[in-house]
Amino acid sequence: MARCRVCQQETLEKFLSLGPTPLANRFLKREQLEESEPSFPLDVYFCHTCGLVQLVDVVPAEVLFHDYPYLTGVSSPMRTHFAALAEDVAQEYHVGPGSLVVDIGSNDGTLLSGFRRFGPKTLGVEPAANVAAMANAAGIQTINQFFGPALAEEIARTRGPAQVVLATNVFAHVHDLDRFLQAVSVMLVAEGVLVIEVPYLVDMLNNTEFDTIYHEHLSYFAVRPMVALFSRFGMGIIDLTRQRVHGGSIRVAVQKSRAPQTPVVAQILNEEAERGLDSMRIYRDFAERVRMIGQELVDLLRSLRARGMRTVGYGAPAKGNTLLNFCKVGPDLLEYLVDATPAKQGRFSPGMHVPVVPDTRFQADRPDYALLLAWNYADEILRKEAAYRERGGKFITPFPRPAIL
Ligand code: TYD
Ligand code: ZN
Repeated sequence: MARCRVCQQETLEKFLSLGPTPLANRFLKREQLEESEPSFPLDVYFCHTCGLVQLVDVVPAEVLFHDYPYLTGVSSPMRTHFAALAEDVAQEYHVGPGSLVVDIGSNDGTLLSGFRRFGPKTLGVEPAANVAAMANAAGIQTINQFFGPALAEEIARTRGPAQVVLATNVFAHVHDLDRFLQAVSVMLVAEGVLVIEVPYLVDMLNNTEFDTIYHEHLSYFAVRPMVALFSRFGMGIIDLTRQRVHGGSIRVAVQKSRAPQTPVVAQILNEEAERGLDSMRIYRDFAERVRMIGQELVDLLRSLRARGMRTVGYGAPAKGNTLLNFCKVGPDLLEYLVDATPAKQGRFSPGMHVPVVPDTRFQADRPDYALLLAWNYADEILRKEAAYRERGGKFITPFPRPAIL
């Protein structure tokens, strides 16, 4: 029996199985279409002891983050979001010349670039070679390695300890959380702060955003298991805010030295308990809605196709591949996916093999319906594609229920 990633107890219960699923960011070249594609179970568990929702089938990080297509800077809402995060953190924690800010999983350097005007030294840590090279080329100093204790010691020794360590959209990717926190601790000054941003379980449940489940995301965090985890390291949450990005996230500031529990943490722990996060019922209900949404989406796409409508997907996010594979939506139901990311264009979506094309094709082509696979950027995309809608084109959103906008 598998052990829980946070509390190490054998108290996991499965509540959802999305079936054997290929890797969500493994977009295929044409010549790879005939090759067999690796797929792995995508089963989700709840821990009865600490409350962590998690996967237990762990795909090695070296496989997931070797050659990585995702670029933060491609999506303008993320650029805006991270610029605001940098400003907030710089002001709140007095980042200035003489400080060191380290970003773990720094991707193309979008977040660190927001610290420039405050004058600290910055350092990115990014395991994907192609992405780290882009950041370095843009002048954001980035170490192309997986983060761990040895690298943390080296950073502390050669560049001095950090005042702030950032971990946005990476904490859920970490299998060995203890090792990760130990390494962060090695690198931080005594009064230093670790700022984590991670999709929030409550938002995922509220909107049934099940497509955010894929192999890269090993944990689906509520605050309760986080508090338990940090306290084992003598760390404490000093600030916590909910954020709109990625379908709903939480930003958590964690102080290395133990801090008295802030009222906002006590309040959110209460809310989580009231919401029923401690018992299986909420997860069983979620799984039931997942099946319903999947069925409704396929029915909708089939009926549009039967009426001779042309349907495509808007965005080729990793999460879209969970949705397409779970619903078995292939090129017969979506002609292509449009995406602005160069490394995805000209490739085929993992599993269902839907071709990915540049977004300029969408504007020229004007299909009848576009399924918003990047539904988390709906506002931005609807604004950007206003001309498409003015000419009668329609968007479909999958969540909270499949609907034509
Ligand atoms: P995102 O939702 O950020 O992440 P994930 O891969 O973790 O699910 O991915 C959004 C995708 O949508 C990304 O490939 C970029 C693309 N995109 C566009 O093509 N056009 C746009 O206007 C926006 C905002 C995103
Ligand atoms: Zn647990």
